[in-house]
Amino acid sequence: MGKFERVLALPPERIPEHVAIILDGNGRWAERSHRLRAQGHHAGADNVETITYACMDMGIRYLTVYAFSTENWKRSKDEVSYLMLLLKQYLLKYKKTAIAKKIRVRVIGDLSGLSEDLRELVLDVEEATKDLTAFNLTFAINYGGRDELVRAVRGLVHDGVSEEEITENKISGSLDTAELPDPDLLIRTGGELRISNFLLWQCAYSEFYFTDILWPDFGEPDLENAILDYAGRERRFGGRKK
Ligand code: FPP
Repeated sequence: MGKFERVLALPPERIPEHVAIILDGNGRWAERSHRLRAQGHHAGADNVETITYACMDMGIRYLTVYAFSTENWKRSKDEVSYLMLLLKQYLLKYKKTAIAKKIRVRVIGDLSGLSEDLRELVLDVEEATKDLTAFNLTFAINYGGRDELVRAVRGLVHDGVSEEEITENKISGSLDTAELPDPDLLIRTGGELRISNFLLWQCAYSEFYFTDILWPDFGEPDLENAILDYAGRERRFGGRKK
């Protein structure tokens, strides 16, 4: 069977336009294989690249990954520094591969909480890829859904927006994700059954897919299974419509 044949055989409207993923389980993956947590994160970061290309091959247009939450600062100093280092290394690497593959890279989250060098790198990668349209890859870094809403509301107040002008569209357009469609499918690896402050507003109508597979082990066939599961849920003609 050809690569992704089962997904590619689906009617295009059954393939999600935007997939968001909570990358969980790097630490447990490392423990299970008697490696350091840092090695788990490294394997997890490598897997983002694999899954990005798989999404592109399947006809998905947007992938958003939760790389570092506003709560992740509570981890040990060593782990936080390692994650920051990885983010820098990978953003640098992604700048090259994204340009080669025409991927637009964005970062959502509170950039003001990042170190100056990481923030500059983020702005640089976003600028270098802003006209690319083959795919949209978004990293959530120092991101929290509540924090994003607070920043959006503060922005509206700051701009003097009046009570009558506040609409759902106005709020959506003030979020970090203003340029992205809402996720059709939210995947969480690593066995936990919660949303952990990710894309709270945007996931109002998303389909959720939870799997026990740890993120570094979540491979192409697992993504395929998630997409097929999603495709099976959207039963628009199952007797419910007149
Ligand atoms: C969850 O695993 C993962 C994270 C907190 C960070 C995700 C970060 C990466 C994959 C590396 C950097 C990312 C990119 C995109 C370059 P966990 O540590 O909570 O795992 P555990 O629950 O098993 O301990």
